[in-house]
Amino acid sequence: MGIDRIIEQDAFARNDIIRLLQSEGPDKELLFRKSAEVKEKLIGKKVWLRGLIEFSNICSKDCLYCGIRRTNKNLLRYNLPDEEILSAAKFAYDNRYGSVALQSGEMESRSVTLRIENLVRKIRELSGGTLGITLSVGEQEPEVYKRWFDAGAHRYLLRIEATNESLYRKIHPHNGRYDFRRRLDCLKALQDIGYQTGTGVMIGLPFQTMDDLAGDLLFMNEFNIDMCGMGPYIEHADTPLAKHSADLPPLSARFDLTLKMIAILRLMMKDINIVAATALQAIDPVGREKAVRIGANIIMPNITPGPYRDSYRLYDNKPCTSDSAGDCRDCLEARLSLADHEIVYGEWGDSIHYEKRRKGKQQNPDK
Ligand code: 5AD
Ligand code: FES
Repeated sequence: MGIDRIIEQDAFARNDIIRLLQSEGPDKELLFRKSAEVKEKLIGKKVWLRGLIEFSNICSKDCLYCGIRRTNKNLLRYNLPDEEILSAAKFAYDNRYGSVALQSGEMESRSVTLRIENLVRKIRELSGGTLGITLSVGEQEPEVYKRWFDAGAHRYLLRIEATNESLYRKIHPHNGRYDFRRRLDCLKALQDIGYQTGTGVMIGLPFQTMDDLAGDLLFMNEFNIDMCGMGPYIEHADTPLAKHSADLPPLSARFDLTLKMIAILRLMMKDINIVAATALQAIDPVGREKAVRIGANIIMPNITPGPYRDSYRLYDNKPCTSDSAGDCRDCLEARLSLADHEIVYGEWGDSIHYEKRRKGKQQNPDK
């Protein structure tokens, strides 16, 4: 079957996805054109913002790829005071960003639970309930997720990182606490509680195959996610996985593969929110804008206060670490207008998929 016929199908088989991931030249152009068309038809040439506050880089985990892993001693650990987090949220509110995303290293404790609950309440207060709130603070117990949901958080991002369990094991330490099953259970709990649930993977990892990536997309479809954030894997020199660099495709190829993953996902799940990941910008200065053109509809501009940004270094060459929140706003505006897209201010920009899923549930509560 030709690529044109594959693209026209209602559902993709694993082999179809692999063919699309391997497309080059005119076939790849066709894939990108079709995904752009789908986005434009359903969503418009639009982008919504989530002001990203990386409020702490303290992490209990030791993932083999991540620069803020617990055992990396080569960085300054920080934990923003509440006032600074709230003033970043106020910046998002004053600049009509529509939503904020609170992200940190993974920590589980009673004090973290209460702190985040309080922050969510305060952000609602300072914005009169108008700022959307996304959390991305890792694996937690269902009761904790529920507390935060009741406090007013309504979206949660928890990347599964790799859906092939054996690949997952290769990129995480083996001491029982880094359990693939728990991560899946967390995603399920988030969905059951009623969050708009987002997940995602890294693309171009050591040991990863095209078949794995096809499996990732099938998983997202099957799981019925509302949002996806996926980006290229980029080595961090102070991590164990970096020693596999020589076996990896160049960054430009990982970038290209990420765009294809986004385009295919847009064809498979037409109405979900797809983030143009910051890691794309680490490889190509207009990487996020390229992703927006072919199907992404969410950007997460960094609004972490300047002095801390450099320490939230998940991978090498992370962009914008020396900029301020205001710099990022002006810069994004200019770039997106070049990409022929408009930023929608003052709106939540919820996933249409989520709305439909919720309405479907009301009509058929057993589903
Ligand atoms: N390259 C790309 N993405 C990374 N992340 C962590 N380390 C890296 C890396 N080296 C991503 C993970 C995590 C998100 C916050 O950052 O997918 O979920
Ligand atoms: Fe951060 Fe451009 S988006 S400086």
